[in-house]
Formats: sequence, C-alpha cells, structure tokens
Amino acid sequence: MIRPAAGADLAALGLLWERYRVEAGDTRFVDQAGWGSWVLPRISAGDVRVGTTDRTVNSYVAWQRATIADPGEGRVLRILELYVHPDGRGQRLGSGLLARAIDAARQRECRAVVLVSNIADAGVLALVEPFGFVLHDDALHLALQRE
Ligand SMILES: CC(C)(COP(=O)(O)OP(=O)(O)OC[C@H]1O[C@@H](n2cnc3c(N)ncnc32)[C@H](O)[C@@H]1OP(=O)(O)O)[C@@H](O)C(=O)NCCC(=O)NCCS
Repeated sequence: MIRPAAGADLAALGLLWERYRVEAGDTRFVDQAGWGSWVLPRISAGDVRVGTTDRTVNSYVAWQRATIADPGEGRVLRILELYVHPDGRGQRLGSGLLARAIDAARQRECRAVVLVSNIADAGVLALVEPFGFVLHDDALHLALQRE
C-alpha cells in the first residue's frame, strides 16, 4: 500500500534513510537529525509518500518542486530520494512510488520530473525507462505534456 507520509512515520523513515544513504552514497546530511529537519517540512507539504507491507513502512519517495531561474522553463519536480528496503523489493513498491511522484508533478503542472540519483544502475534504469525517463546530463528526465 502507498499513502502520504505523516509525522508519525518519522522514526521508521529515519531508519530507512540510514540504509538509503549508505546504499546511495548520499552525503547531503551527516545524521538523521539533519535529515529529519529537511524531511519534516516535505512531509507537511505533501511531498513524501510511504510504501508499506503488512503495515510496516518499508519504502518511501521524497521530492521537491523547484522553479528554474529561466521563467520560460517552468516548474520541475525533483525526486531526491526513492528507496525500497531490500526485503520489500520486487513487489512493485518502487514503481508505485515513482508513479505517485509523476502524478504529483502533473497535478502541479510541472513540465518535467527529474530523478537525481547517485545510483544509475541497470535496476534503476529498468524501473524508470517504462515511464519514459531518459538519461540526460547525469540525471534521469521525464518530460510531461501539458494537458
Ligand atoms: C530501485 C528500487 C527503487 C526498485 O524498487 P522495487 O520496489 O524493487 O521495484 P519494482 O518492484 O517496482 O520494480 C519494477 C520494475 O523495475 C525493474 N527493476 C527493479 N529493480 C530491478 C533490478 N534490481 N534489476 C533489474 N530490474 C529491476 C523491473 O523491470 C521491475 O519490473 P518486474 O517487477 O515486472 O520485474 C529499489 O531496488 C531500491 O530502492 N534500490 C536502492 C536505491 C535506489 O536505487 N533508488 C533509486 C534511485 S534514488
């Protein structure tokens, strides 16, 4: 099941983040407290989804909306963290979380979704390519059509 993250998920998310940062080699935050102060406002803004199996939080996606300096470029939704605990992989949680991020981008009239990741291995590419992402300048990009 996938649902919006709540403040009560913070402890479970922190444990997932610890694994994520090791696997992804993410050095943006030195500890859970620093990461927590970044993610809590994201949770409040509705920019974090969690995936659960048997009610246990075992995956999440966190994004942020950014406005590009050039006004003609429009808004872009950046997926900053997408992680599924190794025990939960292969159950389509990753693709479900990615689909939620793309839905949010469409609702917010973003022109593109960008997956910023240190991991661009075969597994990640196999996950994102069916959605239409292409590798461009070290990031995975999905252009969205305006409806
Ligand atoms: C990449 C990741 C998010 C995939 O999560 P997942 O829940 O296992 O993925 P799904 O079950 O939704 O997989 C959907 C499709 O992606 C592809 N895929 C996913 N992981 C794969 C892998 N390791 N190797 C090959 N294909 C893979 C498969 O085609 C799969 O379709 P299938 O189920 O019909 O075989 C997860 O392995 C992960 O968190 N990895 C570490 C962190 C990371 O790489 N994050 C992404 C960038 S920030």
